[in-house]
Amino acid sequence: MPNKILKILFLGDIVGRLGRTGVIKFLHEHKKEYDYVIANCENASGGKGITKKNAAELLDGGVDFFTSGNHIWRKKEIVHSLDEYSIIRPLNYPPQTPGSGSIVKTINKDVKIGIINILGRVFMGNPIDCPFRTIEEELEKMKEITPIIFVDFHTETTSEKLAMGYFLDGKISCLVGTHTHIQTNDARILPEGTGYISDAGMCGPYQSVLGVKSDIIIETYLTQRPTFFEIESAGETIISYVSVEIDTETGKTTSINGNYVVYKA
Ligand SMILES: [Fe+2]
Ligand SMILES: [Fe+2]
Repeated sequence: MPNKILKILFLGDIVGRLGRTGVIKFLHEHKKEYDYVIANCENASGGKGITKKNAAELLDGGVDFFTSGNHIWRKKEIVHSLDEYSIIRPLNYPPQTPGSGSIVKTINKDVKIGIINILGRVFMGNPIDCPFRTIEEELEKMKEITPIIFVDFHTETTSEKLAMGYFLDGKISCLVGTHTHIQTNDARILPEGTGYISDAGMCGPYQSVLGVKSDIIIETYLTQRPTFFEIESAGETIISYVSVEIDTETGKTTSINGNYVVYKA
């Protein structure tokens, strides 16, 4: 008998109101095709962080679990309630940081999936613990519990992401990159069976620069002055997602595809 296959949907960084409403619409249409839905929520409310209200709406709308990133601290009301709202923050913050960077969830009654969120160090601002050594330690513990491990590596450069992909090949089920808000066309299965894509992309305003009004970003480049980044609230919505199929016995990825849909305004 063939092994059971777990179908996971990963939604790229949700940005602002268009991102939230688009994700809920997308899940209304497609959730039934998947066993589990993970979404990156770091930009869900006004582009920076996520409020409790917006997290609850997205969970009600069909998201099962959230990963996040460097912007997760921007809405202070949720910082000490991350567990309650099914959110993990990057693992490699200092030990006293609120929330946790990894979790094991049980789905379909008996399938355990480990989820890890980790931050990169290249062009990412504040110094942070080494993601490579930090995740290696975490995997030693998680491997005792389940072979199914999904990683959101939140960082800027494709080189750091690809290096991490090869570093973890055969040790995790899948690595999905986030943070750049642009989906890369490089989804593949690495030689030892780890599914990989450099970036999942964004769920948010399509006519924007990474979610922000394009005229503001153009002004920033033209003048080199700091500007207030206002999230675009008009126009079409892009939903960028990754579909992953994992063999539950071996923990290896059998299929991975990046894709997107655009909803009209
Ligand atoms: Fe983001
Ligand atoms: Fe980010």
